[in-house]
Amino acid sequence: MQFDVTPNPQPVDAARRREILADPGFGTHFTDHTAVVDWSWDESGGHWHSARVEAYGPIQLDPAASVLHYAQEVFEGMKAYRHADGGIYTFRPQANAARLQRSARRLALPELDEATFLASLEQLLALDHAWVPDGDGAALYLRPFMYASEAFLGVRPAHEVSYRVIASPAGNYFGGELKPVRIWVSRDYTRAAPGGTGAAKTGGNYAGSLVAQQQAADNGCAQVLFLDPLHDNAVEELGGMNVFLVTSDGRLITPALTGTILEGITRESVIQLGRDRGLEVEERRITLDEWARGVEDGTITEAFACGTAAVITPIGELVDGDTVIASAGTGEVTTSIREELLGIQTGAVQDRHGWLHRLA
Ligand code: PLP
Ligand code: COI
Repeated sequence: MQFDVTPNPQPVDAARRREILADPGFGTHFTDHTAVVDWSWDESGGHWHSARVEAYGPIQLDPAASVLHYAQEVFEGMKAYRHADGGIYTFRPQANAARLQRSARRLALPELDEATFLASLEQLLALDHAWVPDGDGAALYLRPFMYASEAFLGVRPAHEVSYRVIASPAGNYFGGELKPVRIWVSRDYTRAAPGGTGAAKTGGNYAGSLVAQQQAADNGCAQVLFLDPLHDNAVEELGGMNVFLVTSDGRLITPALTGTILEGITRESVIQLGRDRGLEVEERRITLDEWARGVEDGTITEAFACGTAAVITPIGELVDGDTVIASAGTGEVTTSIREELLGIQTGAVQDRHGWLHRLA
């Protein structure tokens, strides 16, 4: 698909951009452009059209746009890194394209083909490449998303949809230096149920997690751990990350994909890197009791969270009401897998699985 490109007549000036890149934080600053593709329903089912790159700015949306009422929306999250060869690369974007399609199917939204998805990133980076930070694991966070823009209050899949990509320079998701995070175990709220939308990357899952996230913050915790009370409080995932446990005899354990958790691309990559280095990987149900007992008897030596925004972040403490399950600080396996994964993403470690894709 051909993108019409209209450069922003008033981009952020270079000095201000450099200031932002020196201390980007997470998700508060945005680049000069956005890529857009619209979709309209028609007799043959619907078609994508009006692909363009235009100035970043507020979207004109009818107050009756169905996304505002019924949350028909899906999104993705990925990162672009500047490599020593001057190129800008992203990590496994084909997997994000495929997941966006799966999420779209679950939310009765149209599927965007992989080629247009990749082109939207490339077209955006062609103009906004100066916004990719240099070094130290900093990256340009890419946020593709799709929403029902039709002005209609009936409850049915929208006939007008927009797909967009915005980009935001990003440092450490949890702020400052990498350090183990405290996690709040949510006993009052769950995130997903069988047949629900837990495996889709859709705004509603995050909206539903906010009150639990608020409880976490009130208790000095950075993220929420959601459980599955139907299955002996099996560990599901964090509000925005998957979870791994490391055992003293060299195994990696992560909750299996049961349809209620997000199929993380970082998760899948960690499984591969773990197997590459001879670790046994178990994808299975793991209860909170097993986690607590394992920490107590020394068989579970490390725990970490993983996702695009967080990369790999050690879990220091699990706060379950008055009980605190304390994992060892930043363990060796966590550190070493993080270094390898980040090394591949930033170009410092050989990309033996062909995971990188050059965007600009
Ligand atoms: N689980 C949830 C709920 C998420 O929001 C994310 C972040 O995207 C992940 C897991 C990790 O997914 P990925 O590694 O593809 O970023
Ligand atoms: C990501 O890691 O890309 C996410 O979407 C998670 C969110 C907590 C920022």
